[in-house]
Amino acid sequence: MEVVICSSPTEVAQRATAKVARICQEVGPNVVLGVATGSSPLALYEGLAARVADGSLDLSQASAFALDEYVGLPKGHPESYATVVNRTVTEPLGMDPARVNTPDGASSDIDGAAKAYEEAIVAAGGVDVQILGIGSNGHIGFNEPGSSLASRTRIKTLTPTTREDNARFFDSLDQVPTHCLTQGLGTIMAARNVVLVAQGEGKADAIAALVEGPVTAMCPGSVLQLHQHATIFVDEAAAAKLTLADYYRFTYDNKPAWQRDLSGL
Ligand code: GLP
Repeated sequence: MEVVICSSPTEVAQRATAKVARICQEVGPNVVLGVATGSSPLALYEGLAARVADGSLDLSQASAFALDEYVGLPKGHPESYATVVNRTVTEPLGMDPARVNTPDGASSDIDGAAKAYEEAIVAAGGVDVQILGIGSNGHIGFNEPGSSLASRTRIKTLTPTTREDNARFFDSLDQVPTHCLTQGLGTIMAARNVVLVAQGEGKADAIAALVEGPVTAMCPGSVLQLHQHATIFVDEAAAAKLTLADYYRFTYDNKPAWQRDLSGL
């Protein structure tokens, strides 16, 4: 796991953009992205969109798989993740909507929709780079504390904390769905690269637990300690509770030039 501590949220987005763009270029036009919703990756998507706009990145033949979707929101609901991904990823990144996928949370067969999503990811050749944020309780995707570290796409019940965190997108807490379909931790771990972004003091406990705590279902993001190619981009506020922060800074500042070239960082 590589931890990159950035001086500001802007720098988090710049460095994460460079990393994702490098992977896209290495993989080629058919790159498969894993995309998170939430506010954390928005500036990263804007960074990628800027590269698409200036012609240095072409995602017109790329595919994407969203991490998760609410269960029970009607198709086209402005806060359904299908709509959010279309608005924040598909359109600005110039992607083909037919190649951008979200789990079908409106299905009458949720179990079948979960299985179909796993199969679609496999059929696309797997995810090349999974973009992640983190919930304040350590969730990734909607894998709430207690999630199996080997889980695959399935229905989950949202915790009160997550529903309260996400209530800002709805008129009231009551309107936030109680259930979701989410890629499992095992699904996320199968991605070939993981890029996680976190900003602000509200994420400091979750980041400390993810990077330096025990690998435990109580902090689902901690499973990333077992991933071979996970990069965690944090600003100073989100890094505030990392015991080895100075070591991560030293490591980054003293990266051998060849390694910096290879990783794009
Ligand atoms: C949401 C999403 C996650 C996201 C997280 C943090 O509920 N399911 O994928 O990473 O919560 O959201 P934000 O980035 O807005 O803090």
